[in-house]
Amino acid sequence: MKGEYYKTKESVDDYILLANDVNGKQLINKLEKVLLANSILLEIGSGPGSDWKILNKSYQVTGSDNSKEFLNHLGAAYPDGEFLELDAVTLTTNKKFDGIYSNKVLHHLKDNKLVDSLRRQYEILNPQGIVCHSFWKGEGSENFKGLFVNYHNEERISEFFSQDFEIISVQEYKEFEDSDSLLVIGKKSL
Ligand SMILES: C[S@@+](CC[C@H](N)C(=O)[O-])C[C@H]1O[C@@H](n2cnc3c(N)ncnc32)[C@H](O)[C@@H]1O
Repeated sequence: MKGEYYKTKESVDDYILLANDVNGKQLINKLEKVLLANSILLEIGSGPGSDWKILNKSYQVTGSDNSKEFLNHLGAAYPDGEFLELDAVTLTTNKKFDGIYSNKVLHHLKDNKLVDSLRRQYEILNPQGIVCHSFWKGEGSENFKGLFVNYHNEERISEFFSQDFEIISVQEYKEFEDSDSLLVIGKKSL
């Protein structure tokens, strides 16, 4: 079962049910303060599509995921949406974006892969482009349901982002418990 969660129909159905009442509205409100309406936005790891649906009201948003099962679900649930099969690290696309957003996706990357992902995001962003990504706050890493989960604190996550981005903010927020999460917003460095 290692690495299968998110990849099988059963686990995707399970996740969609579990995450039914949660979405990134509070994060998207923060993104909207720094990224103009109607900008071209990429969402990495759209999963069930709850955030994609909110983002789609303000932006020209392209959803994506590296799970074919989630992509099947997204295509069926939002037939007018644009969804790409993209891995968060390689981001193999010729498109350019004004912003890149993810909610609880990049914590599945080891530190060196997160740095690679941020470098690739820099390449596919237009000048002044914005990144907005959420993480679980904490120390160390673990395996959960066969998936790698990397925890970050403000200092370490700022170091990773500041290699390619001017940090606009790193804020704690509550997903399930006080201060269990971090939202990082940055602007492409010159
Ligand atoms: C915890 S879920 C979050 C889904 C959605 N963003 C949400 O807030 O409900 C993680 C999502 O990231 C996707 N994912 C995990 N690793 C990925 C990677 N390396 N590249 C692209 N997507 C990835 C999974 O398939 C899943 O849809």
